[in-house]
Amino acid sequence: MSDDLSHHTKNILGLQLPTDPRWVDLAGISLEAILTDHAYCEQKAATTCISLIQKYPDREKLVFELAPIVAEEWGHFRLVLNELKKRKLKLGSQRKDIYVNKLLAFQKKDGHPDDRFLDRLLTMALIEARSCERFKRLSEGLADTYLQQFYRRFMESEAGHYTLFIDLAETYMAKPVVRKRWEQWLAYESDVMNDMEIRGDRIH
Ligand SMILES: [Fe+2]
Ligand SMILES: [Fe+2]
Repeated sequence: MSDDLSHHTKNILGLQLPTDPRWVDLAGISLEAILTDHAYCEQKAATTCISLIQKYPDREKLVFELAPIVAEEWGHFRLVLNELKKRKLKLGSQRKDIYVNKLLAFQKKDGHPDDRFLDRLLTMALIEARSCERFKRLSEGLADTYLQQFYRRFMESEAGHYTLFIDLAETYMAKPVVRKRWEQWLAYESDVMNDMEIRGDRIH
């Protein structure tokens, strides 16, 4: 069996703190807000992939692997937008993303450029992993069978994304370096989750 971190994370999500089961009930009763927040998460995923391509144009694998992800995430945004329209709900404006802001605070701001590069990829891997876990919760816990299916599709897609970011990290950095930093990120993210209020109007 391969000892690659990407292989490892394919089997387990790696997240240390499962979502509080009460969250899905809250999300179910604030559907407009959850769809709006979700729409912006997809939009941010697309723009972050664009900015990674702009920052690292010489890293060919990254450019070629992320280019289709931009389109996929934008497709996700459009799916959520259509769902809002269908339900005669409004997109509304972007909310402050406390979860992502807390993760960004953990990124190394100085030091070697490779460290910043690694943190950028691992931040994305983590957001994808947590989103995947949340979509799984929604797909299992919402009462409406149509919405269960709707979220299942996102869950499957984001599962592929977080492994891709880990795989990219392992392409450009030594595996033990990636593993060590990923473990620090997982520990930090579990503290972040633990400190956050459970609210049904946010994906994270
Ligand atoms: Fe997505
Ligand atoms: Fe994604």
